[in-house]
Amino acid sequence: MSAARGDDAVARAAELRALIAHHNERYHLLDNPEITDAEYDALVRELQAIEADHPDLAVPGSPTTTVGAAPSTLFAPVVHQVPMMSLDNAFGPEELGAWADRLAKQVPADTAFVCELKIDGLAISLLYRGGRFVQAATRGDGITGEDVTANVATIAAVPQQLLAGAGPVPEVLEVRGEVYMPVSAFAELNRRQAEAGDRLFVNPRNSAAGSLRQKDPTVTATRALSFWAYQVGEVQPDRAADLTSPTAALAISQSATLAWLGRAGFPVNPELHLVHGLDDVLAFCRRWESHRHGLDYEIDGVVVKVDDLALQRVLGSTSRAPRWAIAYKFPSEERSTTLRAIEVSIGRTGKATPFAVLEPVFVGGSTVSLATLHNEDQVRAKDVRPGDTVVVRKAGDIIPEVVGHLPTPGRRRKKAWHFPTACPVCGGPLVRLPEESDTFCTNLDCPGQRVQRIAHFASRSAMDIEGLGEQRVQLLVDHGLLVDVADLYAFTSATFDGLEGFAAVSVANLLGAIDDSRSRPLGRVLVGLGIRHLGQVGSLALARSLGDIDAVMAADEATLAAIDGVGPVIATSVVRWFDSEVNRSVVERLRRAGVNLIEPGAGGHGGGDATASDRLAQTLAGRSVVVTGVLDGYTREEAEQAILARGGKSPGSVSRRTFAVVTGEEPGLSKVAKAEELGVPVVGADGFGALLESGELRGPP
Ligand code: IVH
Repeated sequence: MSAARGDDAVARAAELRALIAHHNERYHLLDNPEITDAEYDALVRELQAIEADHPDLAVPGSPTTTVGAAPSTLFAPVVHQVPMMSLDNAFGPEELGAWADRLAKQVPADTAFVCELKIDGLAISLLYRGGRFVQAATRGDGITGEDVTANVATIAAVPQQLLAGAGPVPEVLEVRGEVYMPVSAFAELNRRQAEAGDRLFVNPRNSAAGSLRQKDPTVTATRALSFWAYQVGEVQPDRAADLTSPTAALAISQSATLAWLGRAGFPVNPELHLVHGLDDVLAFCRRWESHRHGLDYEIDGVVVKVDDLALQRVLGSTSRAPRWAIAYKFPSEERSTTLRAIEVSIGRTGKATPFAVLEPVFVGGSTVSLATLHNEDQVRAKDVRPGDTVVVRKAGDIIPEVVGHLPTPGRRRKKAWHFPTACPVCGGPLVRLPEESDTFCTNLDCPGQRVQRIAHFASRSAMDIEGLGEQRVQLLVDHGLLVDVADLYAFTSATFDGLEGFAAVSVANLLGAIDDSRSRPLGRVLVGLGIRHLGQVGSLALARSLGDIDAVMAADEATLAAIDGVGPVIATSVVRWFDSEVNRSVVERLRRAGVNLIEPGAGGHGGGDATASDRLAQTLAGRSVVVTGVLDGYTREEAEQAILARGGKSPGSVSRRTFAVVTGEEPGLSKVAKAEELGVPVVGADGFGALLESGELRGPP
């Protein structure tokens, strides 16, 4: 940077230091951050860049050289005998490569690295004397932490007593790791918070921090926290002294340390990998970047550590972080932005869903300008108001969501938002049913519902009519050409005369696609009808079990509820749907239009048209086959259907009852690990065909 900009740099560095100190306090002490992690990281990096350009500005005590925040006075102070450091970050392969290049000057070419998941929780130090748990402390500023012994004592995963399996234990042993809240426990906690009308937590890390730093340990005890161990701090007698001692593992390598911790009774994350060379490190990072959502805990990256502890000592540390480790950070899935407005959309069942209109923000790989707010209770519990700075989350395949608002001290907020009483599309009343969290437009003729119903019928998972998306449906509804799904089959090219966006070729294609859809199996028709609660799995189960639409219409609730994959809620909804005269007449018009209403190969009486040879051999009858990863030649749905068509089931998780796990490309590693743990056979993609055909496990793993 030029000298002319020196003054600016001084001012900006001072401002950044003040900002970072403020946000450290909000995050580490108050558990109530005002900015997202990604925004915090950006401030630190900006300061690092200024200090790199102006070494004279790198004052002692700068946040780039210190850790966390000074401990609060809420808890007694605990001085760490070995400082608790932080980690330097690498955002992407290039920065990881730069770290490896720096190391290469000091370590041999075949140096081993341990790759561990970077758990998104909070660091904790556990002290054991004579093998008994005596103290737990937060990291604080790395030198002094907070005494949270009583709270940590409520966490079942933290051993109270070390196991004999590890052999004799050091007189003093400090184990470090991450306290976290499983994603499922976080969802359950927020459900309870909403029920009680309490504030919702933004994410599992935030709720873990809030739960651990409670004054009352009985509150912590209700919070389902858990723990992974990943490091050893203080050891007495000194671990380096005697390599022949039973705890020599603690002096040899990170991988041996983790194995020893496991034997001593600590939960050690199973997804660790010992690798040689940067390519393998990168492969591990990439694999977990795309599989991060297959876990029941959140990870925000991978921690790469030099395995050899002697080498670690040679490499040493800066004041803030070791040189022998780096955190490879995944792109953030949470960003903050301004909430412009809250609006309500009407779905195909009439459900009125509030959604956020946002200042567009790039998050989770795409630009988001709309995000769901789920229902009235969620808006209230998150207390989001137009004008607020809100946190938007877009993780994996899930639809973007507003998870909460950030505090904006000193700024007046707008009034709380109230759910409208009239449908924004038809003006009819919006009704919230007692005992339900959802609100509905009850007007069956509401054009909003109609458009959604018809677009859903045409969608890929239902009748798969290419070229008939929501916008075209909207246009056709607006022109009075489309009232219900049966109207589609009366379309001719004349229907589209004079309509904008319907050139002759595209009309011919659309009519062809509509015609093709006549031969879809019954299961897809049932999906398309949009019966509340009846999704793809239930539709297929109904179709396969009953065979044709007449049998579905004639079945009573008890018969429907007894079908595997259905159940009482779906059964009631199906009976109610077919009770309606309007709905029955749509079905009759579909029948007259030549739409297939039979499930080929189904077991029910209605499947009479299917000959014995149409029906596939039930090679997987009663067996559960879990598919993970992409199988060549099958979509996920097709792979599941192939299993169902052979009499099997294809659940989403592995259990003792699973017959086999089939792994395609990029399989979910936790599923494979679980299968291995339970002794469930794992077959590769090329064994899938044989499995379907014969029910036997022949393919190579
Ligand atoms: S090792 C000196 N290993 O990440 C090295 N940290 O951003 C100490 N973290 O303060 C940390 N998973 O709270 C290590 N497998 C792992 C981790 C991990 C999560 C956290 C930890 C640390 C922070 C640094």
